[in-house]
Amino acid sequence: MTDLNQLERDLLTQVEAAGDEAALETVRVSALGKKGSVSELLKTLGAMTPEERKERGPLINGLRDTVQGAIAAKKETLAGAALEARLAAERIDVTLQAPEAPESRGRIHPISQVIEELTAIFADMGFSVAEGPDIETDYLNFTALNFPEGHPAREMHDTFFLAPDEKGERKVLRTHTSPVQIRTMTSKAPPIRVIIPGRTYRHDSDQTHTPMFHQVEGLVIDKQANIAHMKWILEEFCKAFFEVDQVKMRFRPSFFPFTEPSAEVDIQCSRKGGEIRFGEGTDWLEILGCGMVHPNVLRNCGLDPDEYQGFAWGMGIDRIAMLKYGMPDLRPFFEADVRWLNHYGFRPLDIPSLVSGLTS
Ligand code: DAH
Repeated sequence: MTDLNQLERDLLTQVEAAGDEAALETVRVSALGKKGSVSELLKTLGAMTPEERKERGPLINGLRDTVQGAIAAKKETLAGAALEARLAAERIDVTLQAPEAPESRGRIHPISQVIEELTAIFADMGFSVAEGPDIETDYLNFTALNFPEGHPAREMHDTFFLAPDEKGERKVLRTHTSPVQIRTMTSKAPPIRVIIPGRTYRHDSDQTHTPMFHQVEGLVIDKQANIAHMKWILEEFCKAFFEVDQVKMRFRPSFFPFTEPSAEVDIQCSRKGGEIRFGEGTDWLEILGCGMVHPNVLRNCGLDPDEYQGFAWGMGIDRIAMLKYGMPDLRPFFEADVRWLNHYGFRPLDIPSLVSGLTS
């Protein structure tokens, strides 16, 4: 006859030794399954005499209950341990800083940001944006702007020429944004009020000059636009752009073939230790050229100078960006060094607007 005590000890040892729920299930089947050791014992009760059954019955049933209870208890322990292990494995430190998403990690180049800023300011004054190509004809870059053929004024610009085409015509990388004045005046009727931001090219390189740089041209043409309007617009622009109540500007008489009279405008700054600072100091930094559009230019665009007049300016975007954001050297602007961009760049969602403030 089976030694019930021994069987019980064996089964309880096996239950105890089960390392996971699968192992425990194997033990359960071997004891309480259809062909399990305890189930087989229960089956023997039917063939016993009533006296035998009276004695063995409670013992075998007791064995079954003990084993069942032990398995249930072990199952609970194992489930608890599994949960503990999972919680430990999936633990998240919510105090850790979340990594920045790519769209907030990227940076906007200061030139792009400044173009957005000045577009917002001039849009507020009723200007729209016009554009033209970087590769320009000699006619639009020079001749139509009243630079006569062979005139020394053409030498003012260190021009990059392209190889001559079949007709012997040499295109140029535009040396200024002024050719877009001609494109605008020949394609739409006055009143005209546009700004023209874009890339320009000259054979030049030092701390404040690069072979490719940026200008923003302004053009106003109607029947009475005058020099006082121009001065007001430029002063308002500088105050809004530099976010100050007053700016010190200096208008110096100058010469450009396409304007008469012409002026160059300087803005007050200090240049200490290689750093340019705006709004202090006794130095002046030239930021733009301007003037009343020359009658010859109006005529070249089919406009009657006795009916129409206006003014224009061309401003160095890189210069005003350097001045506003305290960047001493222009060359790294175009070196595509991410360390520089991380330092001087702008967050993608810092979109300049006059309502929220240009720089927040
Ligand atoms: N195009 C000139 C330059 O690059 C700047 C300039 C001066 C533009 C006077 C103008 C202007 O529209 O009226 O040096």
